[in-house]
Amino acid sequence: MPDRAALVTGASSGIGLAIAHALGEEGHGLTVAARRPEKLAAAAEELRAVGHDVEELAADLTQEEDIGRVVAAHRERFGRLDVLVNSAGVGFGATADGHETKRVDMQMDLNVRAIVLFYRECVGLLKAAGAEHGNALVVNLASNAGKTGQAWLSVYSATKAAVIGYTQAMNRELAGEGVKSVALCPGFVDTPMTEFIREEIKPEEMIRTEDVAQSVRFLLRLSRSCIVPEIVFERPGQML
Ligand SMILES: NC(=O)c1ccc[n+]([C@@H]2O[C@H](COP(=O)([O-])OP(=O)(O)OC[C@H]3O[C@@H](n4cnc5c(N)ncnc54)[C@H](OP(=O)(O)O)[C@@H]3O)[C@@H](O)[C@H]2O)c1
Repeated sequence: MPDRAALVTGASSGIGLAIAHALGEEGHGLTVAARRPEKLAAAAEELRAVGHDVEELAADLTQEEDIGRVVAAHRERFGRLDVLVNSAGVGFGATADGHETKRVDMQMDLNVRAIVLFYRECVGLLKAAGAEHGNALVVNLASNAGKTGQAWLSVYSATKAAVIGYTQAMNRELAGEGVKSVALCPGFVDTPMTEFIREEIKPEEMIRTEDVAQSVRFLLRLSRSCIVPEIVFERPGQML
C-alpha cells in the first residue's frame, strides 16, 4: 500500500491526467474519476502501465450520489487522502441572449457545486493527513477566465471566479489544520477542451499540461508554514 494517496477528478484527459502522472511519480496511490468509462479505462491503464497503483471510477460528478460513491471507494481502497485534485470541468460559449439552461446548470454543477461537495465528503480524511504531515493539499482547476471575465465564455468565467473565491475561503477555514488549497489559473492549455480554438492558436503555442502538473510537484514540497493560494499561468503576450 502506498503511504500517500490522491484522488483526481477529470483524470481521463488533459490536465487531470498529467497531474495524476505527476502524483503517481511522487509516490501516491491514485483514485481517478471521470465521466466516460472507456476513456477513463484507457487513462487508468496508461497510469498502471508505468507502475502506479490505480483505482478507477466512472462517475458523473454533477450527481451528488456519484461524488459520494467516488470518495467512499477511495477511502475503502487507500484509507487516507493526502491530495485532492478537482480538475473535472466543462465550458460552453454563448452570448448573453443565447444561454441554454441545461448548459448553464452543467457548468455550475460540475465546475463549482462538485468542488463544494468533494470538500464536504473529503474534509475528514484531509484533516487527518494535515494533522499527520501538515501538507494535505487540494488543487482546484480555476482559469485565467476566472481572473478576468471573458465575453462569450461568461458563465464559464463566473464559475471559475467562484472556484477562486471558494479556494480562498477554504484556506481561511482549513489551512490552520494543515489542509492547504490552491486555485490553478491557466490560460489556454493544449487539451481536448481547447480543440475549438486550434484554428486561431496553434497547440504548440498553448501551455503544456506537464507545466501545470509541475506546479503540483512544487506544492507538495511546501513547508508547513507556507500557503500558495493561487498560481496563474499566462501565455507570453496574451491573457488567455
Ligand atoms: N484546457 C484549458 O485551456 C484550460 C484552461 C484553464 C482551466 N482549465 C480547466 O482545467 C480543468 C481540466 O481541463 P482540461 O483542459 O484538462 O479538459 P479535458 O481534457 O476536456 O478534461 C476534462 C475532464 O473532465 C471530465 N468530465 C467532464 N464532465 C464530467 C462530468 N460530468 N463528470 C465527471 N467528469 C467529467 C472529462 O471526462 P469525459 O471526457 O469522460 O467527459 C475529462 O476527464 C477544467 O476544470 C478546465 O476548466 C482548462
